[in-house]
Amino acid sequence: MTQKSLHSHVKSYVFACTNSSQEECFKRLLFGSNKVYGSAAMRVEEGDFLFLWNLDSDLLYGVFRAARDAQFNMIPEAWEGKYPYQVKVEPVGKIIPLKDAKRLLNSLNVERSSPISENKTLAILELYRPSLLPINQWFEHLAQKETTKGLEILSEPKSWSLLAHIKKAEEAVEQMPRLQPTTLWDFPRQSYGSSSKGNNKYAGVTPAELIWNLVWRYTEPGDLVVDPMCGSGTTLDVCKEEGRRAMCYDISPPPYRKDIVKNDARKIPLPDNHVDMVFIDSPYGDNIRYNEDPNCIGKISSETEEFYDELEKVIKEAHRILKPGKVLGWLIGDQWVKKKFTPVGFLLYARLTKYFDTVDIICIARRNQSSNTGIWANRARRFNFYLRGFKYLFVMKKPIPNEKRAEEPREISWTYYRREKIKKS
Ligand SMILES: C[S@@+](CC[C@H](N)C(=O)[O-])C[C@H]1O[C@@H](n2cnc3c(N)ncnc32)[C@H](O)[C@@H]1O
Repeated sequence: MTQKSLHSHVKSYVFACTNSSQEECFKRLLFGSNKVYGSAAMRVEEGDFLFLWNLDSDLLYGVFRAARDAQFNMIPEAWEGKYPYQVKVEPVGKIIPLKDAKRLLNSLNVERSSPISENKTLAILELYRPSLLPINQWFEHLAQKETTKGLEILSEPKSWSLLAHIKKAEEAVEQMPRLQPTTLWDFPRQSYGSSSKGNNKYAGVTPAELIWNLVWRYTEPGDLVVDPMCGSGTTLDVCKEEGRRAMCYDISPPPYRKDIVKNDARKIPLPDNHVDMVFIDSPYGDNIRYNEDPNCIGKISSETEEFYDELEKVIKEAHRILKPGKVLGWLIGDQWVKKKFTPVGFLLYARLTKYFDTVDIICIARRNQSSNTGIWANRARRFNFYLRGFKYLFVMKKPIPNEKRAEEPREISWTYYRREKIKKS
């Protein structure tokens, strides 16, 4: 028997704890994570291998197996609700703490935000082999999926450095997106992961990571997301993978997407106060020919008032169907054509603020534009105009009735930080 005796597609995950949360992990046989690593945590399936990294002691406890698929808020009171993306675990034999966990994970290029690939999982599992057991028997034992009743932890942490055959460069099973910490988002690719999201050949397709970021910031597993102008269905695909329900419409759904409902975004067939997030990447004017439907708003020039009047009808509908306090994300870009600039973003934003409070405004780097060629760059320099380099993502909140609005002036006591002096080299 070899390592192959483990079932195919072996994968594992690292969960983290601190000195104060470790005891609860062991007592409940439950690992949990917050939103930052929630997407990876929710991908854990029954039988996956798991390791617990104590960030204070820098010990990596293993081997555990997931007793069942991950679940959101399985035990709501665990860790006082701080880590709701949870997995029930079972120990495989005696639990061994490995020293220098950070160095080990760094040298394997393992991140907590993504599943760990088969080869890296096997390399880590090898480190937990009982010293007298031949390697083949160890993997055979792991393949039997036997777990241990009750938790027994080796008191003396084990070193690993001389034992490992570490394969450094290999990619994770699926490199997961990360939550963007700033208001400048730049996604080099339209999609991520092993399956496509939307269709990158669709004119005006949205970067999937943008939707992923909104989904993870503003919704929880099981929430309902609506995209009333969903084109090739990027929102639908992201939501399905992240365990959110989604209702997606378009005035002219692509024939290959039977899961997109034909509908005009100015009248959405859903009740009031019903949904947890709305995402819209609308036409920016009449610069793209999406389809032949006469009701396509992409046939109206953004240089006309009519364009904003029609989009305002969509805004009203988004406002009507959203639950109070929930978020609408709207992506749009400005226009410069035939020597005329139109601030499409500002004009739309003015309409949005009639109904919504602003959460934030995010700048999305424009990639893969048809004008992204040397010829156009040269024209822009020569004839003194600019190619569009960014879009706006307006993140808007439906106000909660009687909630104090942000418009009122406030006293802020700022903390002023001094810049550290630059040391002369
Ligand atoms: C920028 S595209 C959306 C791209 C989409 N997010 C994706 O990733 O494929 C804008 C979409 O708005 C749709 N649209 C235009 N007018 C509409 C209307 N009145 N009702 C619903 N959809 C409309 C178009 O058919 C087009 O698919």
